[in-house]
Amino acid sequence: MIFLGIETSCDETAASVVVSEKVAGRTKNTILSNIVSSQYIHSKYGGVIPELASRAHIQLIVPITKTALEVAKIDYKGLDGIAVTYAPGLVGALLVGLSYAKTLSLSLGKPFVGINHLEGHIFSLFLSYPELEPPFLALIISGGHTELMIIKGRCEYEALGSTLDDACGEAYDKVARMLGLPYPGGAFVEKLAQDGQRNIKFPVPHIPGYNFSFSGLKTAVLYYSKTEKNPIPEDIAHSFQETVIDFLLKKIRLASDNYKIRRIGVSGGVAINNRIRERFNEYAKEHNLEFYFPHPSMCTDNAAMIAAAGIERYDRFGPSSLSLTAEARVRL
Ligand code: KG4
Ligand code: ZN
Repeated sequence: MIFLGIETSCDETAASVVVSEKVAGRTKNTILSNIVSSQYIHSKYGGVIPELASRAHIQLIVPITKTALEVAKIDYKGLDGIAVTYAPGLVGALLVGLSYAKTLSLSLGKPFVGINHLEGHIFSLFLSYPELEPPFLALIISGGHTELMIIKGRCEYEALGSTLDDACGEAYDKVARMLGLPYPGGAFVEKLAQDGQRNIKFPVPHIPGYNFSFSGLKTAVLYYSKTEKNPIPEDIAHSFQETVIDFLLKKIRLASDNYKIRRIGVSGGVAINNRIRERFNEYAKEHNLEFYFPHPSMCTDNAAMIAAAGIERYDRFGPSSLSLTAEARVRL
């Protein structure tokens, strides 16, 4: 089965062609193309401006899709279906991809499948690790989401917890801003932290159960930066990052202990972070766990993960209704 995937939920316009075959009862996905255009226009505003994101998607969606088909060496007729992110995200941005996918579906007479963006991030794990069979834990850490869940099967999930306020990547971006770094700031904070030391005691958030919260930590960083006479940006970045990692590991420990699950997939833009990977892998050695980090190009928003999720959903549940609407917030 060959699917076109389309992703426009935030500030990436992405299209991808994925082919899927069953080999010895297992799904084998091959990415034929994976085209992502990041909208740098938001950088000067220090955050994504929804109206600008929608406008940029409108300009980019057709050429990006054409490029994805060209790179995959396939034309529209060769597709078996079209998968598109319908939620959660910026509604105006989602509507561009969703309307385009529905139009393609109607004009080509091909099935259309709406995908929850978070399910896409889960499928980035399946794409990167075909041998990774459920059950396993998944931690999605991105600019818009912080979710911990049990992957019980393909398309079968149990949500454990999510952030009560800022997302993990959002906290990185806000701290980056406090330190005068560009947007999006996660990678800049990571780089700055390399030259710092952990000599500032930021509080590890105390949130019961599997939920997360980053706004208290963000405020602690802000307060420290404003009140300290000679704040050292490298130390702030380093201490902030180590505190975030302590917090994430605390939640992983709780879930892996309680559910006796040893394998944990970590995806979303923040999962690119090398210090997070290093400390998680150290922790894994000490506690007999295994972490699965996708390739960086699969961590950030892309349409290959949407196409792969689309193929699986279509196989199990058939096409989505064309009356499916874009939604800003929806649980998986
Ligand atoms: O998954 P993604 O591309 O988009 C969303 O779905 O939100 O994630 C983007 C987020 C941004 O907040 C960005 O600052 C963060 O991922 N990020 C990082 C790193 N690279 C990107 N955070 C920490 N360390 C990094 N190296
Ligand atoms: Zn995402």
